Amino acid sequence: MNTPLRILLLEDDARDAELIHELLEADHFLCEITRVQTRAEFLAGLEDSGIELILADYSLPSFDGLSALKLALSARPDLPFIFVSGTLGEDVAIEALKVGATDYVLKTRLSRLGPSVRRALREARERAEREKAEEVARRSEKELLDVIEAIPIMAFTTLPDGGSAWVNRRWAEYSGLDETSGSRWQATLHPDDLDRHVTKWQQSLASGEPFENEARHRSANGEYRWFLVRAVPLRNEQGKIRKWYGTLTDIEDRKRAEQERARLRQLEADLAYMSRVMTMGELAASLAHEIKQPIAAAAMNASVCARWLCRHRPDVVKAGQAASATIEDVTRAAEIIDRVHSLYARGTPNHEQVDLNEIIREMIVLLNDAAHRNSVTIRTEFDVSLPTAVADRVQLQQIMMNLMLNGIEAMQATGGELRVASKRIEDGHILISVSDSGVGLPVDGPDRIFEAFFTTKPQGTGMGLSISRRIIASHGGRLWASPNAGPGATFQFVLPPTLP
Ligand SMILES: Nc1ncnc2c1ncn2[C@@H]1O[C@H](COP(=O)(O)OP(=O)(O)OP(=O)(O)O)[C@@H](O)[C@H]1O
Ligand SMILES: [Mg+2]
Repeated sequence: MNTPLRILLLEDDARDAELIHELLEADHFLCEITRVQTRAEFLAGLEDSGIELILADYSLPSFDGLSALKLALSARPDLPFIFVSGTLGEDVAIEALKVGATDYVLKTRLSRLGPSVRRALREARERAEREKAEEVARRSEKELLDVIEAIPIMAFTTLPDGGSAWVNRRWAEYSGLDETSGSRWQATLHPDDLDRHVTKWQQSLASGEPFENEARHRSANGEYRWFLVRAVPLRNEQGKIRKWYGTLTDIEDRKRAEQERARLRQLEADLAYMSRVMTMGELAASLAHEIKQPIAAAAMNASVCARWLCRHRPDVVKAGQAASATIEDVTRAAEIIDRVHSLYARGTPNHEQVDLNEIIREMIVLLNDAAHRNSVTIRTEFDVSLPTAVADRVQLQQIMMNLMLNGIEAMQATGGELRVASKRIEDGHILISVSDSGVGLPVDGPDRIFEAFFTTKPQGTGMGLSISRRIIASHGGRLWASPNAGPGATFQFVLPPTLP
């Protein structure tokens, strides 16, 4: 280090000044000393920004060391200030340190000067470095907050315990609160969201896990809006949480759209329900027949059973067989009633894993009699490796019922075969097709059949296909019709394995 240490020395005695200089040089300090004796000179010396250290006598003819210390502290609080005096009593020394002197050295013990200066400079340097680092941190935090202010989002920071530390302008304007509002933000929560939100936040504060919740906050003018509130902890090098940074994203529009979609879904479900009930009404005669058959069989089997038991020598084995057959008949009747019942059940869409093959089998049970009366046979071609699809079971039953009944009705005049096939296609998608050999699609604008109320049947509502298409679309799939090479038409739909 060749640059000399620049010292401001307040000393009236030239010989003492000389001595101090020599001692410091002997202690390997290369120094450049500016000696001053009066208040005016001292003040001028303080203005020199190159000065790194002040050494001061305590009592001088026209000025005193304590006043000099106070001047130095107000003008240059960063400069180390060491008293070098012959007259410093213990009380005065302590007072000087209290006021803010770095150290004191008695002229009778000048050997302490070198170490004292060394320590004072080191401490000053460390302090300067620390302040610089803190300044850098402050500045980068300020920059960060400036950036956050610039983003169109509401934001806040909190202390590790959740106490409000800072809020950005947007949030302050929306809520009418600022960082001094403490936990009053909780009072802006909608009463229905309050408990859940606050509990989740407390859990995050306790665990240090990121926080995320959707809740309604009241604005300063009393209007509630939905927000997605997120907060993440900022940790220091030791992993201890220093702060939480949070944002509030306005999701009111999304929530409204969601509610509207839910309302539409419910409307659609209601419509589908009405249509099902009407179709079931039309099927009433077939269903009655379908149920009567196993019940009649059960009655017959039960009387056979009774006969075997009432014989002179009861045949328990035969009676048991007849009883078992009775159970089977009754179970079959109960199954049919169950299926009919599920189609009559009203409700909101309920998604679960659904096996399409099973649904087709169930529908065949219900439509058996209708097919029989129209001289239609039903043939199935099942893909045994068919994956399940996430879907609403009742809605899919309804679609199969619509398509199969349409096919049967198309063959009313001629009879024929209804072919129902399932197939796994790429990406786990499912393809279902229903083909008939009936009258075929209307030639003028075949796609009109999917319009609501389009029907060519005297008793038809024309709702079956339009509802089916909507249901398939709401499952992320597609339903379409195509003419067959021979007579009749084929209806097909594709379903993805999961909902969109
Ligand atoms: N398999 C088919 N072959 C020929 N035409 C069909 C077939 N399926 C439907 N269509 C035509 O599409 C029209 C609309 O069918 P949709 O199922 O929507 O109503 P609908 O069967 O007429 O009445 P509902 O279903 O209420 O009894 C039918 O009237 C018919 O003209
Ligand atoms: Mg129909």
